[in-house]
Amino acid sequence: MVEKTAKIWMDGQLVDFEDAKVHILTHTLHYGLGAFEGIRAYQLEDGSSAVFRLQEHIRRLFDSCHIAGIQVPFTQAQVCQACVDLLKVNRLTHAYVRPLVYLGMGAMGLKALENPVRLAIISWDWGTYLGDDALTKGIRTKVSSLVRHGMDSSMVKAKMVGYYANAIMAKREALAGGYDEAIMLDQHGHVAEGPGENIFLVKNQVLQTPPYSSAVLGGITRDSIIILARELGYRVKPQLFSRDELYIADEAFFTGTAAELTPIVAVDDRSVGGGTPGPVTKALQGRFFDILKGRTSDHAEWLTKYKI
Ligand SMILES: Cc1ncc(COP(=O)(O)O)c(C=O)c1O
Repeated sequence: MVEKTAKIWMDGQLVDFEDAKVHILTHTLHYGLGAFEGIRAYQLEDGSSAVFRLQEHIRRLFDSCHIAGIQVPFTQAQVCQACVDLLKVNRLTHAYVRPLVYLGMGAMGLKALENPVRLAIISWDWGTYLGDDALTKGIRTKVSSLVRHGMDSSMVKAKMVGYYANAIMAKREALAGGYDEAIMLDQHGHVAEGPGENIFLVKNQVLQTPPYSSAVLGGITRDSIIILARELGYRVKPQLFSRDELYIADEAFFTGTAAELTPIVAVDDRSVGGGTPGPVTKALQGRFFDILKGRTSDHAEWLTKYKI
């Protein structure tokens, strides 16, 4: 359940939580053409707060809209500012931020060329996405019977609303089977990603992750972890791998704004590595959280600071 906050930002106005409503004829509600982002803000050691890689998230939101053929009626700078304003007015020292671009009420056919483009930003306190112990103990995963959208049918670099029907079904299937999360393959059987996460494996101290040009979202956490891993001296090879390569990996983990860096300790009932989070995963997780929590001044350029 999303906890109530004071305000939600809608089309340039801060409106009361209860008043943030849309009409049933809202086009995106019916057909799914829209785009969104998931962004996190963290409280830093010095008591201030920071949004992680805000500009990159808003850039991806605009890129998603560009791919979808939607013209956003605000600038990227305005949307970045609106996210920070909202966090402050809601007095959230740490939070999840959800900008959503959608087509409003107007025509009901598929064309909908004249429907207004609307933008809302919601923020709320969101704890660990994959469960309380997920970050420390790791999670059990299952390869999904649902295939990740491929480049033959979808434009997968966009974080588009409608794509998530597939992701929700994959996640629910995994949960119903008693697992914590799904792993989705691409249409050729290679491992693609989770329903809302990118995936990495570690083999002989080398990290592998499906390349940006494959059927994955260009994750901002993925990008951050590749940079941090290389800085720590690990080799990172963006390349495709199969589900059985995951079974015999030394370590595996998910990355994502919601999932942060979550160790994967089992895939399809086979333990990965020793069945506990491995040393490379832990080293990267530690380094990542040092940056997110402002325990180091490294990569200060990734943090948009604000104070309540
Ligand atoms: C399908 C999918 N893959 C990967 C990710 C991870 O991306 P990021 O690290 O930018 O949150 C997300 C979350 O946005 C996602 O929805």
